[in-house]
Amino acid sequence: MGSRLIGYGSYLPEKVMTNQDFEKIMDTTDEWIVQRTGMKERHFAREDETVVDMATIAAERALENAGLSINDIDMVIVATTTPELDFPSVAVQVLGRLEADNNIPAFDVRGACTGYIYGLHCARGFFTAGMHERIMIIGAEKMSRFIDWTDRSTAVLFGDGAGALIFERSTSSYSGIIDTVVMSDGKCFGMLHGSPDHRIIMNGPETYKKAVQLMPEAAKYIMDHAGITADNVDWIVPHQANLRIIRSGAERLGFPLEKILVTVDKHANTSGASGVLALSYAFDKGIIKKGQLVLYPAFGSGLTWGAALIRV
Ligand SMILES: CC(C)(COP(=O)(O)OP(=O)(O)OC[C@H]1O[C@@H](n2cnc3c(N)ncnc32)[C@H](O)[C@@H]1OP(=O)(O)O)[C@@H](O)C(=O)NCCC(=O)NCCS
Repeated sequence: MGSRLIGYGSYLPEKVMTNQDFEKIMDTTDEWIVQRTGMKERHFAREDETVVDMATIAAERALENAGLSINDIDMVIVATTTPELDFPSVAVQVLGRLEADNNIPAFDVRGACTGYIYGLHCARGFFTAGMHERIMIIGAEKMSRFIDWTDRSTAVLFGDGAGALIFERSTSSYSGIIDTVVMSDGKCFGMLHGSPDHRIIMNGPETYKKAVQLMPEAAKYIMDHAGITADNVDWIVPHQANLRIIRSGAERLGFPLEKILVTVDKHANTSGASGVLALSYAFDKGIIKKGQLVLYPAFGSGLTWGAALIRV
């Protein structure tokens, strides 16, 4: 029992914040940001624009792409770390906005930047158990709400946005979500976390070291489990945290530069939305094509990390 990808969609807020815009408000330079992170610009949501707003638009676009209505879906999972409300879940609020009347299960997963891989992991489990027919996984974040404008080392790193993927149960185990692995280590909490007053607290160099170790480890685990090498994979779509982390990890795994999807220059780090947004972007641009095999590693606060293998 497996699945297949039948729809995708994304949403990016209108406002673009460039490195030059940061130069005007804090002690930083375009050169420093590009050299250390590969980021050039990111999208920021309007003050009144919420995670639910962004998630709903991405969901609508994915449904349109799949030619389905929300009532054809039987589970919604939202990866988010930045919901405006503690309850109810963003997933249930999205169903409300879409006026769904199918009473389906809907819930959020909080895996920080690994959230969308946690979502895929749940979906794979439900498909394998034969419990659901069509699952929508949404990643949506308003990271700008957590930016500490007095901390130049974290303020420039993040962006807002949302992406959505719809998978359908299939008898083929070689399509859709083929495999997933997710892990966590709560002992590393101090490296990267939110604060009660909604700021991002991060030890950059320590986080960097863990990211370049753990993302490739998860990806390698998935490749070994599937009995494949980098030669068999069409694309590696890593969590878009930082270009140096992405390149270092991909090189460790033996991926040539032309097989690495990079959107961090345009979107920066959108946390739980990152990979879903990146994949939707790559489909829209015709970069990743139907039938290709995608390795999908991620890493984030928690610490959490993991990877998925998807035939799109
Ligand atoms: C954040 C990060 C880019 C910083 O790069 P770094 O090379 O480790 O830099 P450091 O933190 O050692 O700081 C080096 C210097 O740059 C300065 N600096 C930090 N942010 C700056 C900015 N935006 N502009 C200019 N200078 C900056 C620091 O103050 C420090 O100055 P000092 O040497 O005078 O003290 C890097 O650590 C990183 O990418 N970490 C992982 C972050 C991440 O991906 N987190 C999310 C994971 S999901």
